Amino acid sequence: MKKVYLETFGCQMNVSDSERVATLLESKGFEMTSEEDSADVVLLNTCSVREKAEHKLYTRVGQIQNFNESNPLIGVMGCVAQLEGETLFERNKGIDFVIGTKAVGRIDTAIEKAYQGKKKVLDLNNREFDYDWSTSETQRHSKYVAFVPIIEGCNKFCTYCIVPFSRGREKSLVASEIIRQVLELRRQGVKEIHLIGQNVNSYRPRNDSGLEKFKGATPFSKLLRAVAATDIERIKFTTSFPRDFHQDIVDAIDENQNLCNWVHLPVQSGSDKVLKAMRRGHTIENYKRRIDKIKSSDRNISLTTDLIVGFPSETLEDFKETKDLAKYCQFDSAYIFKYSQRPGTPAAEMKDDVTKEEKRERFLDLENVVRKSQKKSLKLKVGKTLEVLAEKVSNKKPNQLSGHSTCQTVVNFDANKSNLGDICKVQIQEAKANTLLGKLL
Ligand code: SAH
Ligand code: SF4
Ligand code: F3S
Repeated sequence: MKKVYLETFGCQMNVSDSERVATLLESKGFEMTSEEDSADVVLLNTCSVREKAEHKLYTRVGQIQNFNESNPLIGVMGCVAQLEGETLFERNKGIDFVIGTKAVGRIDTAIEKAYQGKKKVLDLNNREFDYDWSTSETQRHSKYVAFVPIIEGCNKFCTYCIVPFSRGREKSLVASEIIRQVLELRRQGVKEIHLIGQNVNSYRPRNDSGLEKFKGATPFSKLLRAVAATDIERIKFTTSFPRDFHQDIVDAIDENQNLCNWVHLPVQSGSDKVLKAMRRGHTIENYKRRIDKIKSSDRNISLTTDLIVGFPSETLEDFKETKDLAKYCQFDSAYIFKYSQRPGTPAAEMKDDVTKEEKRERFLDLENVVRKSQKKSLKLKVGKTLEVLAEKVSNKKPNQLSGHSTCQTVVNFDANKSNLGDICKVQIQEAKANTLLGKLL
């Protein structure tokens, strides 16, 4: 039996693809292993969103070639595979096969061909017509939490971003199929599902199947209500795109306790000038109105975001506007990125004129601002009782369990393994830098 070691970089879409690839390979008689050294095949599921992410691939291929004694076949899948295609073989002689983002359903064929001695096996073609991108039968990253892709790809073409090129155009799964999967996951004991997509709220299925009975201002808010009606215990969704963020999403959360109180709404910049150059399609004013609506909910919805510092032509004044916006929004947490030029994107034609050092300074400066609101938000939870899904034994302390609250904060608490998979009432005792510590009630 051939052993396959699979390593995943990048976003949840890649994690989700990896889950399906692992399931497919097992069904074809391969064995998935967590020990790289004994693997016959090493698969790298890659990310291309920033230069650093892309470079990880080349570092890893080098390491595997130099140190792995089993001398495995090396396969590249994911976004770098899709974008670089054949050129990967020239760049790195150690790579045996390359599988694009739409070709994951044919991974077994690629491996077989590479085994038969075929050189440089390449598949960048489209998904098979009947490719099942469902998740219900798959190996999952967690027993209790499952990712359900509802829309893949991106039509937005923000000027800095490579994703529309690596993932292609938006394609939504019909709601009846999503609901079938959620019901199946619930039957299997999954407590929390994440509806995932590059922009979940741009969801637009080709027909209404499964949504007929549900009200909603947009197909996505209808879908939220439809999924809530499955009675699965918790539903989270990520990522939301500001321009398509209808206030009805907040109404749906208000109406349904199992729609969790967390919204991830990447703003990228606090300057209208920069937002325009990024082609985000939203202004600060309309972003703030959406935030106001979110904050007005009685559900105490937590708000997280993504921010980019050092986009071409960003001045100190623009950057100050980003800090002001962060203060206004009081984010519960944020991912901050230094702008990274991506070949082939429109922004790559602009002059990358914010120096490395300036990017670093702005990054640290903004991190400080976000840290303050994050700290405040964590402190406010001390003394309160949160519902925490006990997902795993804590990495550091074997007598502690670790999981997420409904608002997506990591909470650690003393409890034993018998509580795994339960939604526990936890009284919060202490706020750490990024997490909370509590006791089981
Ligand atoms: N679809 C989501 C984001 C997906 S990419 C949205 O539009 O909100 C995840 C994050 O990576 C982005 O929000 C952005 O902050 C960051 N990112 C994307 N391209 C980048 C680049 N070229 N340089 C730096 N950060 C980038
Ligand atoms: Fe990239 Fe913009 Fe699409 Fe998000 S919306 S994936 S940032 S192009
Ligand atoms: Fe990276 Fe591709 Fe996701 S570029 S962020 S793995 S869609």
